[in-house]
Amino acid sequence: MINKKHEPKAVFAAMVLGLSTAGQAAASPDLFDEKIDSLLGIMTLQEKVGQLNLLNATAPELMADKVRDGSTGSVLNYVNPDEVNMLQRIAVEESRLGIPLLVGRDVIHGFHTILPIPLGQAASWNMELIEEGARNAAVEASACGVRWTFSPMVDISRDPRWGRVAESAGEDPLLTERVGLAMIRGYQTDNLADPTALAACAKHFAGYGFAEAGKDYSTTWLPPSLMTDVVLPPFEAAAKAGVASFMTSFNDINGVPATGNRRLLHDVLREQWAYDGMVVSDWDAINELIAHGVAADKRDAALLAAKAGVDMDMEGHCYSASLPALVESGIVAESLVDSLVRNVLRLKFRLGLFDNPYTDTSCGKKSYARPHLDLAGKLAAESVVLLKNDGMLPLRRDIKRIAVVGPMADAPHDQCGTWVLDLEKEHSVTPLRALREAFGRDNVVFAPGLAHTRDKSGDGIPAAVAAAEGADAVLCFVGEEAVMSGEGHSMADLDFKGAQSRLIAALAATGKPLALVVMAGRPLTIEKEAAAANAVLYSFHPGTMGGPALAKILTGRTNPSGKLPITIARKTGQYPMYYYAKNTGRPPEWTMELDSIPLEAVQSSTGCSSYYLDCGYRPLYPFGYGLSYTTFDISKPELSSDSIRPGEVLTVGCTVTNTGDVEGAEVVQLYIRDPVASMAQPVKILKDFKKINLAPGESRRVEFKLSSEQLAFSDIDGKLVVEPGEFYVWVSASSECDKTPATFRLTD
Ligand code: BGC
Repeated sequence: MINKKHEPKAVFAAMVLGLSTAGQAAASPDLFDEKIDSLLGIMTLQEKVGQLNLLNATAPELMADKVRDGSTGSVLNYVNPDEVNMLQRIAVEESRLGIPLLVGRDVIHGFHTILPIPLGQAASWNMELIEEGARNAAVEASACGVRWTFSPMVDISRDPRWGRVAESAGEDPLLTERVGLAMIRGYQTDNLADPTALAACAKHFAGYGFAEAGKDYSTTWLPPSLMTDVVLPPFEAAAKAGVASFMTSFNDINGVPATGNRRLLHDVLREQWAYDGMVVSDWDAINELIAHGVAADKRDAALLAAKAGVDMDMEGHCYSASLPALVESGIVAESLVDSLVRNVLRLKFRLGLFDNPYTDTSCGKKSYARPHLDLAGKLAAESVVLLKNDGMLPLRRDIKRIAVVGPMADAPHDQCGTWVLDLEKEHSVTPLRALREAFGRDNVVFAPGLAHTRDKSGDGIPAAVAAAEGADAVLCFVGEEAVMSGEGHSMADLDFKGAQSRLIAALAATGKPLALVVMAGRPLTIEKEAAAANAVLYSFHPGTMGGPALAKILTGRTNPSGKLPITIARKTGQYPMYYYAKNTGRPPEWTMELDSIPLEAVQSSTGCSSYYLDCGYRPLYPFGYGLSYTTFDISKPELSSDSIRPGEVLTVGCTVTNTGDVEGAEVVQLYIRDPVASMAQPVKILKDFKKINLAPGESRRVEFKLSSEQLAFSDIDGKLVVEPGEFYVWVSASSECDKTPATFRLTD
């Protein structure tokens, strides 16, 4: 219920300060700054610190007091719009100044309608679909009272032992940047004050994906050049695109925890990039400065974080406990607190919360609208990567009876992957259900073989084998349950868990055509299982509409067009493994593997180059790789010139032809190499890509613009330099650029 008792005060503040921006140029930064200054002028220290406090949902009655007395200005994890409106009403009408609440939630890959995990979305290489997916998620979440999402995660990850690789766009900075920007556009639109817009949050700033040995929260060692060339670009692009907020990361970077890292949060973010959005800590991360060993207590932690430039304390309770005393004792200047509060209030103004604080509940939930489900299905289908196909797929039309096997075939919860706080699994359509619809219930024999992906018993394997023996084709859905990837879910071994390998071997032994569909939160090491199968599809947890998407691909109604956003290694021990690697002084020209080494061979007999005796140097499937039911030819690149000067742009063109007999989409990828530079450079760097759809026999010219600035790399101190010299260029269907490159020179 609204307590009208205090309303006059809030109305007073609003009237005197003219806090409403309705009818004015809502986006004008100066306008907001004036209003913020006026507000700061009448806020008590306690009220200021309250604006820096972000609290997790508790019973709304308990939270109400904290909102009323101004001890918190933001909350996360309320998704009942009536509760949100109740708390908002207290903030606006009963707190002394009537400052609206900011309500956050992890809307990571869809809200109710679950999209593929971000790694899967990245595998689509389709930025329009990703943007549309984020837009739909924002519409669904905002209808439930959420106006701030902790997405996109733009951490690069080259080690899928790290469970959060599922939330990433994979290993490459350019692809990550594009995916991040598409999500930001979708969440925020170009008007944050639109009631369906969510403030996005670029996270985790920074380097979190480089956790040593893929173990979550672990330390990171990041030389300046890696920061400049790989870690920071997606964040910088997000900042420049106006992402509303940044979140600090849990890790330390070279010994300095990110949440107390002034160089990163102030020198880079605020000074270099001129970012004026809001910086929130990760959950409890200010408090964790104590566990890191850089702060003795909460007071110390608050001091470090505030000085570094963390505006908002998420559930760390350090600012609320210590900032007032730090100011009163003169250790922290109140002007520092003001500068943090300013960023929080600016976000609230940008979201239009002062004018329009409430969630409109009159039109009810907007979840599962037909267009949202259709988009989720389209994105799921485009995110599937065909890794192997001996011709078994698409399934022949004369196939009468199929065996559907494996623990992921009918796992409505698990197909949605990590971070689905709002999942209602009854809405998930599983592959089993979709295949029954496609083939007719009686033509599909379902024998899961294993109850779940960790099931070691194997008791169901004989029934699965019997089903396979009676079928014309076997579709085996394996992978990882949702809980096996995501935050705090690192793995030391990426082989299939439970008895999944045994199940696959037993099915392969029947001699029936066998297609594996791997549904997982990360690349798994599937070498021997892939070798035993006739076809392999990889589907990073595909979400609500994963079943229909996979059924369409298996039956050929949709032609697969996904490409790997991350390398699939042969063995876990190869990771970190990524295409963007350097040549080394000893690139492998030939390899001698373990079993062929003669007994008592001399030390140098293996060639002494950069590879593993027990698995060589190649991945199982490289970054950018993915097959189709058709074939494409990409012509040699044609360059507009054989040299460019600084400031000029080169045009790289090629002709792409669909040489098969079905329609399909190809992702045309532009890679370069700087073969001689003052710092050793990767053997390939992705610089651009385009996804195009072609009818059978159709050819299309594709052009890329490559500017001299795109040839820059970091020197040893992290400073960008552009050096003249020769460059190689490939246009290719994957990072395995097997053709001779074109070359051009950058002149002085
Ligand atoms: C995660 C963040 C997330 C936050 C809020 C943390 O544990 O690292 O990515 O946004 O919780 O739920």
